[in-house]
Amino acid sequence: MARPATGPRARPRARLKVGVLISGRGSNLQALIEAAADPAYPAEIVLVISNRPEAPGLARAADAGIAHRSLAQPSREVFAAEADAALRQSGVKLVALAGFMRILDTGFVEAWKNRLLNIHPSLLPAFPGLHPQRQALAAGVRFSGCTVHFVRAQVDSGPIIAQAVVPVHGHDDEARLSERILAAEHRLYPMAVRLYAEGRLRIQGERVAIKGAAPPEIALFNPSQALASAGG
Ligand code: GRF
Repeated sequence: MARPATGPRARPRARLKVGVLISGRGSNLQALIEAAADPAYPAEIVLVISNRPEAPGLARAADAGIAHRSLAQPSREVFAAEADAALRQSGVKLVALAGFMRILDTGFVEAWKNRLLNIHPSLLPAFPGLHPQRQALAAGVRFSGCTVHFVRAQVDSGPIIAQAVVPVHGHDDEARLSERILAAEHRLYPMAVRLYAEGRLRIQGERVAIKGAAPPEIALFNPSQALASAGG
């Protein structure tokens, strides 16, 4: 039998405000929007910024009723200053890069240090930069995947939060491999943002430790975490 509540009713915890930076399709943005549609998810998307006005991802934000802006400034510094101001005005506490194809000003990266995430379609540190799926195929690797990491000044570098592994098949072309990796991205990014929002990530040097019991999905994505939580 449920015990009658005695104390004051627990207030729902405020959700972490997230800003998402995109340049194109926005399928990872969509995955985050869908995760945040659950009121129990500890984060909400409050602002989407694109550096390209024609980015289809902007329509996804509009459809979800999320504030969105296009900042197409040619100057990296001006873009960074305007994005920074918009994010702060919206009360953003975490910035997620989701297919954001412009190199960020180092001042912006420094200002948002440890509050700035990226997703990359390879198992970093392998295959940073452009066309990672093409690089993986050319290298003949048997597995690839995706990585969510904290952003540092060097492109596609920074402490790794979570990775998902997918097989690379002999008959794969870039499109097929990209599609397989993308399906994993759509599960991994919402999970990583959730871990951040729950305050469970501790950066120790260049490594990230996850506090508390690993979520069940992590066994799928990161075998070493599953082993650690099982005492292995
Ligand atoms: C994804 O593969 C992401 O990892 C990479 O760019 C792609 C963006 O796709 N950084 P989308 O715009 O989220 O659909």
